[in-house]
Parts: sequence; structure tokens; C-alpha cells
Amino acid sequence: MTTADIGAEIATEIEEFDPLGEKFVNSPWTEFKRMRESCRAYRHVGTLMPVVSFFRDSDLREIRADWETWSSARLAESNKHGLRAGALMVGQDPPDHTKYRNIIAPMFMPGRIGALQPAIDGHVKKLLDQAIDAGEIDFMEDIGGALATATIGTICGIPEQDWPLIREITVIFARDYGKAPLYKEPQPEVEARLREAEAKLLPFIVSHIQNLRKSNTPSILLDVADQVEDNFAVMGLCALIIGAGVDTSANLMVNGLWELMQKPDQMRWLRNNPDKINQAVEECIRCRGSLRRSERVAARDLEFDGVQINRGDTVMIWNASASRDPEVVPDRPDEFDVQRVAKRHMGFGAGIHMCIGNVLARLEARTLYSELIRRTSRTEETHGADSYEHWGNGVTDAAKRYSVSLHS
Ligand code: HEM
Repeated sequence: MTTADIGAEIATEIEEFDPLGEKFVNSPWTEFKRMRESCRAYRHVGTLMPVVSFFRDSDLREIRADWETWSSARLAESNKHGLRAGALMVGQDPPDHTKYRNIIAPMFMPGRIGALQPAIDGHVKKLLDQAIDAGEIDFMEDIGGALATATIGTICGIPEQDWPLIREITVIFARDYGKAPLYKEPQPEVEARLREAEAKLLPFIVSHIQNLRKSNTPSILLDVADQVEDNFAVMGLCALIIGAGVDTSANLMVNGLWELMQKPDQMRWLRNNPDKINQAVEECIRCRGSLRRSERVAARDLEFDGVQINRGDTVMIWNASASRDPEVVPDRPDEFDVQRVAKRHMGFGAGIHMCIGNVLARLEARTLYSELIRRTSRTEETHGADSYEHWGNGVTDAAKRYSVSLHS
């Protein structure tokens, strides 16, 4: 039986799950619930590459724990249609993954990231100074995107005049990242956009590292270049740090505010309980973790709950679904509740590939929300329900625009 036959057979039992389709883009949470309840493994129908998706927390944990069966090494086909730079580490298995992770992880530990607090305080203050009482702002570009870019710019020692370039490139990632295996037909325009972004980012990294060396400016990228011998690996790791660190954090900050704005009683509660900011940020990550899925590749043939999985199949593990699995969150899993203590979620993944930037992302969101609550008495959506616009990339939870006004 061919992959297409298997897909067609399953499709007769379960209504199609299409993360790039309009239904999912408009209501992913209903779709995740349906899929968690319908099956443990779902073979997609009609995709260019064979893809199988998983939705339940326990299955994701099992898959994440067994890298020998569920490899992170990307298929050449996936890289061809999607993003090649930055496929290092996130797209590797031990021992290569371990080698690089051991170099990079210490750079993102709480001690080193905590030292960034004054710089992040400064960025937040400046951005809020400009935004408060300025009338309508776009919280995505003017605050979330700007803060995440400034933060990555700071740790990477990137001069301020180059921040717009970094933002431009990461916006392309936000729009197109991670969709490649799910395409139903080739998308030359999308591939061209990704190639163009890479073609700008990689030479920028080369010349930036040369400048850092000359000027002896502290930078995580220089630390990477000093500790990793292979030039290709230096490029990949630097691109990963820049690519993974901007739009993910920006989306968290924007989507978290959106959730709070839909529930004025929760916003009021947070304003009255500013010491609960950490808890609020955690609930934002649980409900709106920006990377909705991680990608794996089946390293051998196997059967999973009656579904035949073939070596080389692309595997989508839906973090955003696992974070709302009632087996883990029995009490109103689909409801954002700022008073909840979200102890267990998949927003940053789990296992050997767990997000290396989680301390940094939490620090940014915590600092922004604390200051926002302290400095404003009121926040308002300036175009009602149309204030928020999504990129329509079902694979990442990416905001395109969020029009609000902030009042002192
Ligand atoms: C809210 C913000 C963020 C979210 C939701 C997020 C989410 C994730 C997830 C789910 C993974 C796991 C990927 C996998 O299992 O294959 C991951 C990995 C990673 N993240 Fe993040 N991330 C965020 C922010 C950041 C930041 C700020 C950085 C760095 C500056 C970063 C750097 C990385 C890196 C390097 C990896 C790969 C780790 C590895 O393969 O060992 N992330 N992230």
C-alpha cells in the first residue's frame, strides 16, 4: 500500500486536518481538540511529502524522548522547500546535537541572561515612552517586534542601524517558517522569499563577526565563532540564534496581551496583582506558545496505534495541542486564565531540544508586562475585533499587526 493509499484510507475515517487551510488558521484550538479526541496519529492527505501528525501530550513526550526513532535530522527535501540556515542543532541528533548544545546552552543560562535585565529595562522604557499617549500604535512592530529585535541585537552585539534588517528577515520567517512539508503543491514564491532572507542573513553574519572581532565587542555570536571550528556550523548556529529569538518572543508578548485584552477582568486582576506576572507569562506560553509544532523524521518503519509509519516520514508534533491536552490540564484547558498556575506545558518543547532561549523569552515578557501595567491605567484595541491580524501561518502563532493605544 502506498503512502497516498494509507492517507486516503485514514481520511475516510477522520475529516481532513489541514494546518495551512482556512479552517485551522481561523480556529486551531477547535481543530486540535477534534484531533486529540479522534486519533493518536494522523496521516496527512495530499501533501508533497508524507507527513504524520501527533497531538497528545503523552505521545509528544514519548516521541521527544526517543530521538533514535524520531530523529530531528531534517530531510533534504524539507530543507529544499523550507529553510536551510539555522537547521543546525534544532535539526540534529546526538552526538552532533549534544556537541553544539553544550557550547550554546551555557550562554543562555539564568545567570548570564539575568545580567541583561538592565539592558532590557532600558529597551522597554524607551519603547513605552514612545508608545504611551502616542495614539494608535502597532503593538507587534512598535513594541513586541522592536523589543525582541533590540534584545537579540544586544546579546549579539548588532549595531542599532542593523536592527531593521534583522527584523525584516525574521518577519519572513514568521510568515513562512515550517510549512514546507505540508504544502499540497510547490510554492516557488515562498521558497524564493526564504532563499532571499537567507541570502541577506548569512553574509550579514560573516561581516558582523569580522566587525565584532575588530572592535572587541562582546557578543554571543563571537562566543559561538570562537568555540566552534567549522565555519558552516558557525553560520548555522548564529542564524538559529537570530532566527529563533526574535519573532517567537515578539509573538508571545503580542498574543499574551491579546488574550488579556479579551478578558478585562483578568487584566484588572493582573493590574491588582503585579507580583503574579510570572504566572501570567507562563499561562501565555501555555496558551499561545509561538512554535505550534516541532518537526521530526521517522528513523525506521513502525506501527503507531494502528497507523503505519514509514522510515523518512515527516512527523509534526503539535506542541500547542499538547499544552491544552485535558489529560494534563483537566480544568478548562482551552481557556486562558491568568490566575492559573500553568506547571506543565509544551510551549518551549521538552527533552534534549527544549528551547534554549526560554529564560530570555520569559525575561522579556515579564519585564514588558510589569512595566506596561505599572505605567498605564488603560489599554485599548483601536479597531475592535479587527485590531489583530494573523499572518495566516498555521504552523507558527504569528501576529502580523495588533492596533492598540496605551494610556497613562
Ligand atoms: C516565546 C518564545 C519562544 C518559544 C515559544 C520557543 C519555542 C521553542 C521550541 C518549541 C523549541 C523546540 C524545538 C524542537 O523540539 O525541535 C525551541 C528550540 C529552540 N529555541 Fe526557542 N522559543 C522561543 C524563544 C527563543 C529565544 C528567545 C531563543 C534564543 C535567542 C530561542 C532559541 C532556541 C534554540 C536555539 C532552539 C533549539 C534547541 C535545540 O535544538 O537543542 N528560542 N524553541
